[in-house]
Amino acid sequence: MTAVPTVPLNNGVAIPQLGLGTARLPDEETRRIVREALEVGYRFVDTAASYENERGVGEGIADSGLPREEVFVSTKLRGRDQGSDSAKEALRSSLDRLGLDFVDLYLIHWPLPRLDRYVASWQAMEELLAEGLTRAIGVSNFLPEHLDRLAAASSTVPAVNQIECHPREPQLEQRADDARRGIVTESWSPLANGGELLRQPVLAEVGARHGRTPAQVVLRWHVQQGLVTFPKASSRGRLVENLDVFDFALTDQDLAGIATLADGTRVDGQFPDVWEEF
Ligand SMILES: NC(=O)c1ccc[n+]([C@@H]2O[C@H](COP(=O)([O-])OP(=O)(O)OC[C@H]3O[C@@H](n4cnc5c(N)ncnc54)[C@H](OP(=O)(O)O)[C@@H]3O)[C@@H](O)[C@H]2O)c1
Repeated sequence: MTAVPTVPLNNGVAIPQLGLGTARLPDEETRRIVREALEVGYRFVDTAASYENERGVGEGIADSGLPREEVFVSTKLRGRDQGSDSAKEALRSSLDRLGLDFVDLYLIHWPLPRLDRYVASWQAMEELLAEGLTRAIGVSNFLPEHLDRLAAASSTVPAVNQIECHPREPQLEQRADDARRGIVTESWSPLANGGELLRQPVLAEVGARHGRTPAQVVLRWHVQQGLVTFPKASSRGRLVENLDVFDFALTDQDLAGIATLADGTRVDGQFPDVWEEF
């Protein structure tokens, strides 16, 4: 079974570098996939209130029989729950659905700048952290201007910024900005949702040099650069394949080839300054 390395967050909590993504999965399927993922060695599950599958995540973890402290669970505050009191209630509801006493990481899902509630939400999350309902707090889809406002209003630096990141949109500037602030960058849609990216000939060429699949090349690209990520996969075979990226290294030549794919394409045109979901 592959041992997944951990990355230290800025408050000392260790996060596994590769986990399981669960977007767009209904509860029952989530339950099966989470259980299978934990069986084959995953120890980190990323979910969100808006995925409406926290119950499935919790059941999958319970089915696995693993001690709570061996599984890192991350969930997110949805747009409609942003605000001081509502954010606190939202985490309690998430914990209820998950069947857990605490999560390991709680994130603001989107900044929703038009709403202007992310600073109040963040201050509520600081209280949730102090209460022990989450071991770390962070953000998702935050731009430097949003992080500046948090920094002005709070002394708690987000542990992570979870952003869309893959070889099509490597996010070099946002990653540098996160690193300067002591924030770990997490990559969402690390495979750019599968499909078109994985059919690029350069990934097959790099993979052939290492005896790996295009998906493994892309996931290696993430972890080799210190990113934390969580591909979503539905079959046991893909779960195993995606975890098996810690015993080879991409060369400078490989990385230069992968860099040619960076054309700024986003999977769904979700730009954080304007994207709204509730
Ligand atoms: N914070 C945010 O705003 C945000 C936004 C989007 C996503 N996320 C998080 O990031 C996670 C991952 O992103 P994602 O689910 O959008 O996309 P992804 O992980 O980039 O890609 C998932 C797709 O790739 C396919 N796939 C997985 N492994 C494969 C392999 N080895 N070979 C070929 N195809 C493979 C999957 O197919 P099968 O399922 O059929 O196996 C699925 O269709 C989400 O699940 C969620 O947890 C966060």
